[in-house]
Amino acid sequence: MAAGMKDVATLAGVAVGTVSNVLNHPDLVRPQTRARVEAAMEQLGFIPNASARQLRAGRSRCLGLVVLDVTNPFFTEVARGVEDYAQAEGYAVILCNSDEAEDKEHQYLRVLEEQRVRGILITPVHGRAPTIKGIRERGTPVVLLDRPGPAGHCSVAVDDRRGGELAVAHLLALGHRRIALVNGPLAIRQCADRRRGAYEAVRKAGFNPAEVLLEIPVPAMNTRCGADACDQLRVSGLAAGSIPVDPALITGPTAIRGPAPTAAFCTNDLLALGLVRRLGQLGAQVPGDVAIVGYDDIDFAADSAVPLTSVRQPKYQLGQAAAELLLEEADRPAQHEHRRIVFTPELITRASSQPEPARPGAISTPRSAARVMPAPPV
Ligand code: RIB
Repeated sequence: MAAGMKDVATLAGVAVGTVSNVLNHPDLVRPQTRARVEAAMEQLGFIPNASARQLRAGRSRCLGLVVLDVTNPFFTEVARGVEDYAQAEGYAVILCNSDEAEDKEHQYLRVLEEQRVRGILITPVHGRAPTIKGIRERGTPVVLLDRPGPAGHCSVAVDDRRGGELAVAHLLALGHRRIALVNGPLAIRQCADRRRGAYEAVRKAGFNPAEVLLEIPVPAMNTRCGADACDQLRVSGLAAGSIPVDPALITGPTAIRGPAPTAAFCTNDLLALGLVRRLGQLGAQVPGDVAIVGYDDIDFAADSAVPLTSVRQPKYQLGQAAAELLLEEADRPAQHEHRRIVFTPELITRASSQPEPARPGAISTPRSAARVMPAPPV
């Protein structure tokens, strides 16, 4: 049977209350007494009961982090930023994967509240403002991550409209006038904002978005959907029949309205990497037949068979900033004021869009600029 506090107290020759103080208020215990108690814990293999302690304290030493897709390296790097900051503050992180599904997200939010986590960081599938408002009203701080927040909420995000504009302006500057927009569900705010930016880039260049952009919606933002999107394209090589095509590889409709795209903006790198892979299988050249731009600038982007041009997000910094906002509100409420932090994305050009062999990734500033705007009062 596992040793309890009474066993530790007996072996150390102190009261049970002293053992409790060593666990919860060590500064109240004389150093030599604390050493005796800790030695007894070590000898007995005593493990404190965190559930009991959090019942007494009312809160755990854990944060909840709910992301859209834990297999997406974007969220892995964001989670690393969260975990490094939380760990330095003495907190553990409970990572939850919503899989871009509202019901799964809802289940996790309920579990995290039941566990009395110190706070929740979430990239919500949809807006979810009412749910998050309720969690906050019941006493659990929430920070929106990778999502601009509504009034009265803390949030950390990247200016995705600017990011979408950077991607498409780059392709327009290279002379492309027919660009596929491979994008996830518009219910995901990042997808909607990147699309807005793409449209803004076309309009600013003096063209008609309906003529330049060929929208290719995908159900999820992963490599398989990126590959499947290829089958909806009739890239110039396929249209001209100049590229040998295995009909078995083209599973979706290949007939598309208007001229075939010579470029594609994929609203995250996994879509772009899947598209590059499928184009290679079809014998199409990147960027010769199709120039590709992705979004996130995950580590694999630079190491891809065709190094990927991508819109870089400050992933680690997003996580750090979100964790800092959350713990400031949770542990130092008197110093806290709700605010929205918005980072500026940057375009990193590589071989997948440049007609010439890529220059090494563009020299980027070591830290993406961020604008801090006070969240308007509730
Ligand atoms: O989860 C969808 C996308 O939104 C990710 O790839 C990342 O770009 C996030 O911002």
